Amino acid sequence: MAEQDGRKGILVVDFGSQYVQLIARRVRENRVRSVVESPAVSVERIKEINPRGIIFSGGPSSVYDKGAPGLDRRILDLGIPVLGICYGMQVIGKLAGGRIRKSGRREYGRAIVRFRGKDPLFTGIAPESVTWMSHRDKVETLPKGFRSIARSENTPCAAFYNPEKNVYGVQFHPEVAHTADGGKMVRNFLFNICGCKRTWTMRSFIKKKVTDIREQAGGRDVVLGLSGGVDSTVCAVLLHRALGKRLHCVFVNNGLLRRNEAERVERLFRKNIRLDLRVVDAEKRFLKALKGVEDPEKKRKIIGRTFIRVFEESAGKIKNAVFLAQGTLYPDVIESRSFFGGPSKTIKSHHNVGGLPRKMGLKLMEPLRDLFKDEVREVGRELGLAREVTDRQPFPGPGLAVRIMGEVTGERLDTLRAADWIIIDVAKKRNIYYRTWQIFGVFLPVKSVGVMGDSRTYEDTIAIRAVTSVDGMTADWARVPYDVLEEMSGRIINEVEGVNRVVFDISSKPPSTIEWE
Ligand code: XMP
Repeated sequence: MAEQDGRKGILVVDFGSQYVQLIARRVRENRVRSVVESPAVSVERIKEINPRGIIFSGGPSSVYDKGAPGLDRRILDLGIPVLGICYGMQVIGKLAGGRIRKSGRREYGRAIVRFRGKDPLFTGIAPESVTWMSHRDKVETLPKGFRSIARSENTPCAAFYNPEKNVYGVQFHPEVAHTADGGKMVRNFLFNICGCKRTWTMRSFIKKKVTDIREQAGGRDVVLGLSGGVDSTVCAVLLHRALGKRLHCVFVNNGLLRRNEAERVERLFRKNIRLDLRVVDAEKRFLKALKGVEDPEKKRKIIGRTFIRVFEESAGKIKNAVFLAQGTLYPDVIESRSFFGGPSKTIKSHHNVGGLPRKMGLKLMEPLRDLFKDEVREVGRELGLAREVTDRQPFPGPGLAVRIMGEVTGERLDTLRAADWIIIDVAKKRNIYYRTWQIFGVFLPVKSVGVMGDSRTYEDTIAIRAVTSVDGMTADWARVPYDVLEEMSGRIINEVEGVNRVVFDISSKPPSTIEWE
């Protein structure tokens, strides 16, 4: 994937912006590789990465704040083009000897900016257009060698440029969709200013990864825990392509899965892909451990612990295994070493198998750790997987247990499975499934009175939860058309025994969460 002079891709310096991953993705959408580093990145490390260009992200600080993240000044002298966004622009301003004014008041939202079209960053864009601003401070005195190349009502310097050093700064956010010509500016930076080539494709990724995996494994065996979700599935298929019989997969059926899920996984991996799959039927064990437990956090912890035990017992039997593979993705990698990324407050205990490799004496193998979720889906398609698999909606590790309020019982699981099956079926047929982030049923042990035929009923409730989201961090309730809801509700009440009422959840995240527990 190297380009002619060995320089490749774009380095994004993360100053703590909520948009840092978006910047990295914008670059990759243009088929250029991006890597994210913290502001502590050394000049030596940058030389090692050898990027074609550097982007400084925005951030929540003010450059004169105590403890505000700064950078090694020499970065501007490496002869590598730089684009600073928002706080990133102010960092450049300060490093290069300009003055930043702390204005105290935030400028937030849309702003019309006038551009000087002659400058390479703005080639081919309208002289005036809408941008998205989100900042407090602005450049008051331009550093030596810089000139203003854009103005807004609020500032005569909405962007600056040093032609000699090839360094740019913009006060607005070109990476967000609200900036009308943002995409064009990013492309100008990548291709006209940095001279990047479009070499980051998932086909080339697969080719290189297969070689890397073989090299890392060195003829030894690898174990992978399969969940049936997109990440572990793509991980398995990629590893299988590289290792064949040296890959061993373990699938734990915890009894908390959706209808036909275990069968689907077996069919896909045993029959179609023909890899070594061990299915552990641990349904009874999980249900027993969950008996009488109502507290959501307790449920999650019990499920997590039981999973680790069952997995360990089964994977431990694979004698020659030296590696444990995991489907870790790039956002997790960025998060864990981000400048601001400390441990955040626990809202829900997620499945955490992070301690497993060491405990089992295995080495970790993470073939997807360079990819974003949409890239993983693309790798899946490139590997020949169907859309049914690559575009599946996320499903939580603790499964239906966090969609049954209160105690989890076999009977409640059956009821929820039947209702959920109908929701998914209707959503797929009515073209809702692939347009929502998640759509599913929740079992509420709330009995209410109904009438069916001539008889009184007194039965439980099913809630329909449907959300749109980009990353699961924030979400809005999906505006599912009434007639689709009507079909779901009608079928659930008619076909699922023990349910006489269906409700629709209209809460966004925050303040609610996507799953009910
Ligand atoms: P919440 O409910 O926190 O969910 O808004 C955000 C996203 O994460 C999924 N989720 C989980 N995924 N293990 C997982 O792998 C878990 O324990 C877990 N809990 C929630 C949820 O489905 C949503 O997409």
